[in-house]
Amino acid sequence: MRISSLFVFLAVVLASQTAVSSASELEAFQRPEGIPAPSSNPLTVAKAALGKTLFFDPRLSRNQQMSCATCHSPDNRWSDGRKIPLGAEHLSHPRRTPTVLNSAWLTALMWDGRASSLEAQAVLPITTEHEMNYDMAELTARLQHVEGYYPLFAKAFGDETITQQRISDALASFQRTLVSETAPFDRWVEGDTTALSDSAKRGFDLFTSKAQCAACHTSWRFTDDSFHDIGLASTDLGKGAFVPAQIVIMQHAFKTPSLRDLPENGPFMHDGSMTTLEEVVRHYEEGGIQRASLSKEMQPFDLTDSERNDLIAFINSLTGPVLEIDFPELPE
Ligand code: HEC
Ligand code: HEC
Repeated sequence: MRISSLFVFLAVVLASQTAVSSASELEAFQRPEGIPAPSSNPLTVAKAALGKTLFFDPRLSRNQQMSCATCHSPDNRWSDGRKIPLGAEHLSHPRRTPTVLNSAWLTALMWDGRASSLEAQAVLPITTEHEMNYDMAELTARLQHVEGYYPLFAKAFGDETITQQRISDALASFQRTLVSETAPFDRWVEGDTTALSDSAKRGFDLFTSKAQCAACHTSWRFTDDSFHDIGLASTDLGKGAFVPAQIVIMQHAFKTPSLRDLPENGPFMHDGSMTTLEEVVRHYEEGGIQRASLSKEMQPFDLTDSERNDLIAFINSLTGPVLEIDFPELPE
């Protein structure tokens, strides 16, 4: 934030009766200017366009029935609205489909962080048995028979060669372009005091003070990109499956999800076990299941009914308009 706008902002905050949050506190929630991308895969319009086509193309799955968008659908805020993803029903530890909105900023991907970049992640759904159940070499060979892809690859990469790396790079590039639209909260952070209801403003204060949500849900995306056990009943070990059992705080630990653009009726959490924000807030009030791995930040607290409504009004202010995109034409 520029110094001059900071002063204007401070004055506005001081003049407001309900917003007691300081400007510097709000600055921590300000949206970034650009979209980050690794130097090994710079973001270009042509690569994102190819990636969009691949993302919606069911030929990326063995039986040609499932595309990435089957589970990460623009109509469901880039998730699937389901407690358990399609086709994953037979799994003993099924996990809910997270959104791919704002994935450009993810530092650890998947609920347990087992993928470290969008490029690396893209291979997983294509090759996972309960998802697209395909093989990268077979997929590359299949796409080499789709002539309509040649000009798209040529534009994106300089020549029409189709490789596994180029498929992953393009999918990653498209996903980086999926950024949340401006929400009422953003307009408030920028100084528009009318953008939030008084209830949502009080909710923000609860979020950052008494309810301690901001201990984990920080930054403009409202996540610390870290892993915590918040005491859900699920027996899934989450990140715990990848670290020695002695690292107690990583048992039952899952990645803190962003709170932007949450679907109205959930489902929420890695196991899709909650369907309303009231249920979520009441879980935090109670403090979760007591076990050695439970996060130290999970301290029970009491909210009145009206405080609970304020907190929920605040979370809803993080939801902006639906991100509209044009569906790609699939090449023949
Ligand atoms: C059958 C449904 C399904 C399909 C198809 C699918 N995904 Fe996913 N996606 C999931 C689920 C479930 C997870 C979380 C898995 C986990 O954490 O164990 C996930 C996680 C992700 C993530 C990580 C998000 C985060 O917050 O960490 C990205 C990125 C992603 N998928 C992209 C893709 C791409 C690209 C494709 C197509 C190549 C794809 N997905 C196809 C269900 C699906
Ligand atoms: C100790 C860190 C921590 C604190 C404190 C915390 N959260 Fe969370 N939150 C998480 C993690 C981790 C998850 C995912 C847990 C899982 O699925 O196992 C989560 C999930 C959520 C979800 C579900 C989002 C989704 O996409 O499924 C909501 C909503 C939420 N938290 C809101 C809040 C609110 C409101 C507060 C304050 C009352 C709060 N959180 C406090 C770490 C935290």
